[in-house]
Amino acid sequence: MNPRYSLLLLGFCTPVLGADGLAIYTHGGAKPAAMACASCHGADGMGMAAAGFPRIAGLPEAYLERQMRAYREGLRANPVMQPIAAALTEDETRIVLQYVSTLPAPAYPQITRAAEARDAGAVLALRGDWPQGIPECVSCHGPGGVGVGGDFPPLVGQPENYLMDQLDAWRKGTRKGDPQDLMGRIARAMNEAQVSAAAGYFSALKPGTAVPAQTTDEPASKTANAAPPPSAAPSTSGFTPPAEDSLGDDPFSQLVRQGRALFVDTAREARPFVGNGMNCVNCHLDQGRLGGSGPLWGAYPMYPAWRVKDKAVDSYADRLRGCFRFSMNGTEPPVDGPVIQALAAYSYWLSTGARIGLAPAGRGYPAIPEPAGGYDLVQGQKVYGQSCAICHGTQGQGMKVGEGYVFPPLWGADSYNWGAGMARLDYAAAFIHTNMPLGQGNTLSPADAWHVAAYMNSHERPRDPRMIDGSVEKTRAAFHAGQPTLYGATVNGVRLGAGTP
Ligand code: HEC
Ligand code: HEC
Ligand code: HEC
Ligand code: HEC
Repeated sequence: MNPRYSLLLLGFCTPVLGADGLAIYTHGGAKPAAMACASCHGADGMGMAAAGFPRIAGLPEAYLERQMRAYREGLRANPVMQPIAAALTEDETRIVLQYVSTLPAPAYPQITRAAEARDAGAVLALRGDWPQGIPECVSCHGPGGVGVGGDFPPLVGQPENYLMDQLDAWRKGTRKGDPQDLMGRIARAMNEAQVSAAAGYFSALKPGTAVPAQTTDEPASKTANAAPPPSAAPSTSGFTPPAEDSLGDDPFSQLVRQGRALFVDTAREARPFVGNGMNCVNCHLDQGRLGGSGPLWGAYPMYPAWRVKDKAVDSYADRLRGCFRFSMNGTEPPVDGPVIQALAAYSYWLSTGARIGLAPAGRGYPAIPEPAGGYDLVQGQKVYGQSCAICHGTQGQGMKVGEGYVFPPLWGADSYNWGAGMARLDYAAAFIHTNMPLGQGNTLSPADAWHVAAYMNSHERPRDPRMIDGSVEKTRAAFHAGQPTLYGATVNGVRLGAGTP
């Protein structure tokens, strides 16, 4: 065969090879409508802010693929990208997206919830607007909005007008196809002022900006921004805690801020006392403010109190120390040390104006009845796969950015231990029903909440620190008898309770 002819043939059969990602990116696909990506997204993939062309460099491949499919199928309506997505062949799409996902993006600061929130954009990003059903953006998009895994794209590095357009598109229904309607539901809960505040915040973060450490000694400034601080919005529960920006810079306010930072970033701020990857806020949402999520203002006024668990009248400090021993699988901080002092001050401040000894509506986690036919681990596993695995991982392992968890683990070595309240099926079902999936509380049926709670707690986790003689049997008899828990039960041939290695 004529060598030139065979080359041509080869060219037809395999129109694009691995190295051609760059070629498609800079020159376009085979069809003229498949325009060169670089002409709009820039040679480096960092977009063009003035035109509102987004950054695509370094976005996760799974996310990129979903977006191109959404353009092709019309789930994402856009007159510029739809014809381009339609003109690319399947192979071209795959190859160019592979290339795009490997384009380097600069490192952005990882700003956590422990940082101050000084204006409406930062409040939304780092505190959320829970009374309106809006979690902190960073709780899904990672610290500083750097992105998490293949499903939660970075918000940093995106132009302000692009971010605003996307949120508006969800509000108008012209962008769909996000997994489990996780983003759509949140965008629809946002008002125009919040859209522009959030877009302004993330687009203004610059690469390499120093990561603000805990800034407990600086006052929160009062700003005249459009979006109200979370607690100023009407609360659905029986009590409204004071707004964060009512704190000054006096020693009391500083102690309160320190308590808040400990509460939201416990694994870092109280490292010596934490034995897993959890933070208090993981189970007490909205910084311990949210009714139905074990709010601190529901707890503080109710102590000292008799606790069956300890067979004693516990002070509030005792109660807090128990959280470290069980939920945090760690060791109890000294009762008069700085950790307990600051957490108690934070709780005391959140309870400003609450009635002592009178449980307010919204305390704890609202109990839900166990299904009449009992719980079902198979149904629980199904619910888990559909509604939970995208964030908490198929193995319940959670998801990290750097050292810290964004999505906390539900079982395994970094989770709460067998002595924790969450290891009880009734508490877990109640928490899950009211609070999960994140941003979609009260959407699971009570029965499904029980099924998935049981599935979650049918996996091994760190051992009960009260374990007697290494015996699950003895420990069960002493501490778990008569409680709704799978401690000591045998599931799939495994006797639960021995603990993770
Ligand atoms: C003529 C300009 C233009 C060209 C050429 C172009 N894009 Fe785009 N791209 C845009 C615009 C504008 C948007 C935002 C559209 C929207 O609002 O949905 C976008 C959005 C995207 C997104 C979604 C980003 C996100 O964060 O969700 C991806 C992925 C993408 N483009 C990939 C490509 C690829 C791959 C190519 C080359 C084959 C390409 N684009 C060529 C203008 C362009
Ligand atoms: C419950 C989880 C969750 C929370 C909380 C969340 N997001 Fe998202 N967000 C997502 C998911 C999932 C996507 C990807 C959607 C898709 O695949 O189409 C997304 C995508 C986005 C996008 C599109 C990015 C792009 O490149 O096109 C923007 C903008 C956005 N989110 C803004 C926000 C803002 C602002 C907040 C806080 C007010 C927020 N998100 C909070 C889950 C969340
Ligand atoms: C794994 C989830 C989880 C974590 C992490 C967690 N808690 Fe809790 N917490 C619970 C559950 C469930 C309850 C209610 C059941 C119980 O009494 O054990 C509770 C109860 C409380 C109460 C009493 C509430 C009341 O109304 O009486 C306080 C106070 C508290 N936790 C503080 C903390 C602090 C402080 C931390 C961090 C050091 C923390 N929790 C970490 C799940 C958790
Ligand atoms: C969109 C992501 C997302 C989905 C989906 C989701 N969660 Fe969560 N979940 C979170 C985040 C984030 C937290 C921690 C909240 C915080 O720190 O503010 C959390 C906390 C928890 C906790 C308490 C902390 C822990 O690790 O023990 C449990 C239990 C839990 N989720 C169970 C579930 C179950 C069961 C489902 C499915 C019905 C589910 N979640 C779906 C994001 C999610």
